[in-house]
Amino acid sequence: MERKEILEWLKTDDEERLQALWQQADQVRKENVGNNVHLRGLLEFSNHCSRDCHYCGLRAGNRKIERYQMSEEEIMACVLEGADYKYGTVVLQSGEDLSLDVEWIAQLIRRIKQETSLAVTLSLGERSREELTLWRQAGADRYLLRFETSNETLYQRIHPARPGSESNRIELLKVIGELGYEVGSGVMLGIPGQTFEDLANDIEMFCSLNLDMIGVGPFIAHHETMLGQAAKAESIISPNQVPNTELMTYKAMALARIICPKANIPATSALATLNTPTGRELGLSRGANVVMPNLTPKKYRALYEIYPAKACIDETAADCRACMHGRIRSIGRDVGTGRGDSANKQAS
Ligand code: 5AD
Ligand code: FES
Repeated sequence: MERKEILEWLKTDDEERLQALWQQADQVRKENVGNNVHLRGLLEFSNHCSRDCHYCGLRAGNRKIERYQMSEEEIMACVLEGADYKYGTVVLQSGEDLSLDVEWIAQLIRRIKQETSLAVTLSLGERSREELTLWRQAGADRYLLRFETSNETLYQRIHPARPGSESNRIELLKVIGELGYEVGSGVMLGIPGQTFEDLANDIEMFCSLNLDMIGVGPFIAHHETMLGQAAKAESIISPNQVPNTELMTYKAMALARIICPKANIPATSALATLNTPTGRELGLSRGANVVMPNLTPKKYRALYEIYPAKACIDETAADCRACMHGRIRSIGRDVGTGRGDSANKQAS
């Protein structure tokens, strides 16, 4: 698809015209990744974070949240529950928690691979080549690291680097791919200061990075962050500002599907947060083929507050399982069995 056309889609609010975009995305999804919706059990095992991203509630400077780290036994109990539920994948997610022992994580990965047939996806932030290599050798299959925005100035503004080291997620994504991981990335949309041109660049970047997994979700203001405060204070909004709406999220997902036909694309929790009753179903009907039911124990869920009012805070892992099955069946799709590896990887 031409860049001009991407921009036109991003800017139109004509519901009738948009039907054509939804239909095309759904058709491309069906032809390339089929009717299965893959389930990835999401385990948010530590909310400690050493970074200070201006959008994220877990940022180190937020003293208002209680921090937790799950023990190996707690984690394994959740992983085994996920395996019982026939999720093909466990996603181990945390803040960029440098207090976790690198070898402890490697050992945890080995244990999961020994005791289950789950694919292991890591989402542990910006880590060194050495760490990524160790975890890959331990058996990790996939890595998620969103580049958040392809606009470098905007990225630097909302994402302070670690003292003494540049943050370059694009370069890091290349390293992750070289190490043999399936690579997942994506962006938030509607970040204050993000223009339609920026978002069109983001979508083109999905393609040039040859991503296996693409996650896009709306930016949701968190009151304990710099961007949350700024969003409140913002009185003049540029006409070129991408709105952080549900509709914009569907557009970005649909375009990602059309441009990267074989990628795995989740209907994200941020989307479900904007529209809890039907956001996931609409996402799945407009390009997505993955959902990420939460496996995190209920007592920790509310503490993993990346943004406020997250979906599934009051539910248990069993609730989310039943809920996701119901949602998938309600739109005539099938619950995926097996790992749901990237069709993109297999093709390349
Ligand atoms: N709103 C929406 N998404 C957010 N993320 C972080 N903070 C927010 C927010 N305030 C997303 C980022 C990150 C992922 C784990 O969660 O894209 O990569
Ligand atoms: Fe958690 Fe619906 S997926 S309650």
